[in-house]
Amino acid sequence: MSFDRSIKIAPSILSADFANFGQEIEAIEAEGCDWVHVDVMDGHFVPNLTFGPPLCAAIRKHIKTVMDVHLMIAPVDPYIQAYADAGADVITAHVEAGPHTHRTMQAIRAAGCKAGLALNPGTPVESVDYLLDMVDLICVMTVNPGFGGQKFIHSQVEKVRKLREMIGDRPIHIEIDGGVTPETAPLVAAAGADVLVAGSGVFKGGSVQNPAPYGENIRAIRAAAENAVG
Ligand code: DX5
Ligand code: ZN
Repeated sequence: MSFDRSIKIAPSILSADFANFGQEIEAIEAEGCDWVHVDVMDGHFVPNLTFGPPLCAAIRKHIKTVMDVHLMIAPVDPYIQAYADAGADVITAHVEAGPHTHRTMQAIRAAGCKAGLALNPGTPVESVDYLLDMVDLICVMTVNPGFGGQKFIHSQVEKVRKLREMIGDRPIHIEIDGGVTPETAPLVAAAGADVLVAGSGVFKGGSVQNPAPYGENIRAIRAAAENAVG
């Protein structure tokens, strides 16, 4: 995985047809997505349950781009190796998931993956201060994690702007997760984000039988974001 700050669209398969992940992934990649975002929830850190490592290993075979695994679980350290073995390229853990985030980032890199750190909407940007040299991606949650289809929280745009300043020249992606649409994408792109996760915003209106809307949605979000960057 090489680093650049171009806009990347990462559909969340939380909004895909759960009976048909392989074909859904092939459809979004054929329609032009850059990464595939996998939302892992444990019914404890967040009030919802989703995907274990075996599911990730099974869908890996269908992903040609980047498998971006977002762990909304606590504790997180005992499961890092299993998600790395399942084929994750990026593993993101939450700063709120435990007291030893620094160790968690080390463990993700030691497992051979890019290390991502996610911040809930209520978490201050300063919490990443001493972790900036340990991370490859920072995910700013623009909804409270747990569910797709929620409304974008506008106060987080300012957080992205501050984060972009703190990052400076470091090769760190800023990812936005939650409520990304062609209306909200320009706000975060202008503030410095480069990876845009979108679940409902990509999958709405389409299906594996009718994947064209996936492409239209991806292109609409990308165009809106790129226009804002200039
Ligand atoms: C929320 C997840 C998101 C979510 C985004 O807990 O981390 O990735 O699926 O969904 P939308 O784009 O529908 O807000
Ligand atoms: Zn996510």
